[in-house]
Amino acid sequence: MKSGTMKAFKNQSNLLPLIIMLSIALLTLYYYPLPFSPPTETQLPLTSPIHIISYSPPISSSAPSPTSAEEEEASETPCDYSNGKWISDKRGPLYNGTTCATIKDGQNCITHGRPDKGYLYWRWKPSKCHLPRFEPQTFLQLIKNKHLAFVGDSLARNQLESLLCMLATVSIPKLVYTDGEDNKFRRWHFPSHNANISVYWSPFLVQGIEKSSAGPNYNKLYLDHVDERWARNLVQIDLIVLSIGHWFLHPAVYFEVGSVFGCHYCHGLNVSQIGFYPALRKALRTTLYAIIERKGAVDVVLTTFSPLHFEGDWDKAGACPKTEPYREGEREVEGLDAEMRKIEIEEVEVAKRKGKKFKGFRVETLDVTKLSLMRPDGHPGPYMYYFPFANGVQERVQNDCVHWCLPGPVDTWNEIFLENMKKWKNRLRSEE
Ligand SMILES: *[C@@H]1O[C@H](CO)[C@@H](O)[C@H](O)[C@H]1NC(C)=O
Ligand SMILES: *[C@@H]1O[C@H](CO)[C@@H](O)[C@H](O)[C@H]1NC(C)=O
Ligand SMILES: *[C@@H]1O[C@H](CO)[C@@H](O)[C@H](O)[C@H]1NC(C)=O
Repeated sequence: MKSGTMKAFKNQSNLLPLIIMLSIALLTLYYYPLPFSPPTETQLPLTSPIHIISYSPPISSSAPSPTSAEEEEASETPCDYSNGKWISDKRGPLYNGTTCATIKDGQNCITHGRPDKGYLYWRWKPSKCHLPRFEPQTFLQLIKNKHLAFVGDSLARNQLESLLCMLATVSIPKLVYTDGEDNKFRRWHFPSHNANISVYWSPFLVQGIEKSSAGPNYNKLYLDHVDERWARNLVQIDLIVLSIGHWFLHPAVYFEVGSVFGCHYCHGLNVSQIGFYPALRKALRTTLYAIIERKGAVDVVLTTFSPLHFEGDWDKAGACPKTEPYREGEREVEGLDAEMRKIEIEEVEVAKRKGKKFKGFRVETLDVTKLSLMRPDGHPGPYMYYFPFANGVQERVQNDCVHWCLPGPVDTWNEIFLENMKKWKNRLRSEE
């Protein structure tokens, strides 16, 4: 970050509410490297996923399928995975930075020298049921001959990268396509199952012009136009995970039907401040309607808002210093986190009603807000960089308290995602 920008950040931070500070911190973190931290990685993942998943008739396979009584039961009584607590688990993760080749630098906490390991030994216990450990074979079987796309911000990518690492424990994916700076658009192929998994960078899902050092100091969002960078590929996609949210906190001007109708944190422009909640809602509605109208038969999953955990100064050591989850009852989903999640859940319900007429359309939320809120210990913090304290503790150190270490709590998102997919498949079976 240039010193002028830093000065501007400081001045603003005196005047603005916390949200604005955080949004600037995030933006800065994503796009404006601090002088001492070369940005190999300019985008951190942001997500607001909608998951719509459609399956073809079950394919018989030799892969192990879930047969335990517990899982059978779970598939009959819908389980609410969104509420529960973290309990300790000696087993630890399925992978690590040594066994998985595709962990993005910024999330490779163990390899980057994060000293504490306790955060790896927890599992999510839903209040009224059991969440099975991730089964890579079952997941691959469910996406056999299919194309699964993650669309959204850097948290969409974070979730995708967790999934790739877990699947790679049984089948090595081949990177078959990459495009865009920082590999914003990539696709992997699993020859074992003729399955493809791709990621599309689209932090608003709708058309947007991201702010840049050359252009205006705010994002421009065209809320009634879906982002064609991913939408034009809808025809070849069978299952979509949508994940957005954090980018909506940044300063922005909103357009609809060709004209400006509002903005967020846009002092100095003669536009009415409407905040970002209506913009998030419109972006989701435009996106889900476009998916329904253009594609119809598709499964969509929307991952809900993932809370951030900055404490104090985001660029000082100890910005997210916790090493254990919050205990049950210690924190509740509230404020911004609650509002973002609520809008996402409501828009999925709107899409469900709209999609009724369209055969084969399914959409569900992947509600990860609470379980993620309870994991302040799961972020890279300073370990987004390789051994950040190798030369002693500096006055300022860039911290990532937004994304999740890999392995880490985001692996649980994919465990729940898999349970959703199993449920869908079983329902399909019972309808036949
Ligand atoms: C990574 O996992 C492998 C295989 O489970 C294990 O042998 C290795 O010790 C692990 N490495 C680290 C750094 O934990
Ligand atoms: C996956 O991508 C490959 C090209 O890399 C293509 O040949 C194949 O048809 C795709 N399969 C599916 C199921 O989308
Ligand atoms: C702001 O916009 C309104 C309505 O478009 C216009 O009447 C007014 O003159 C504008 N003010 C400035 C300072 O440009």
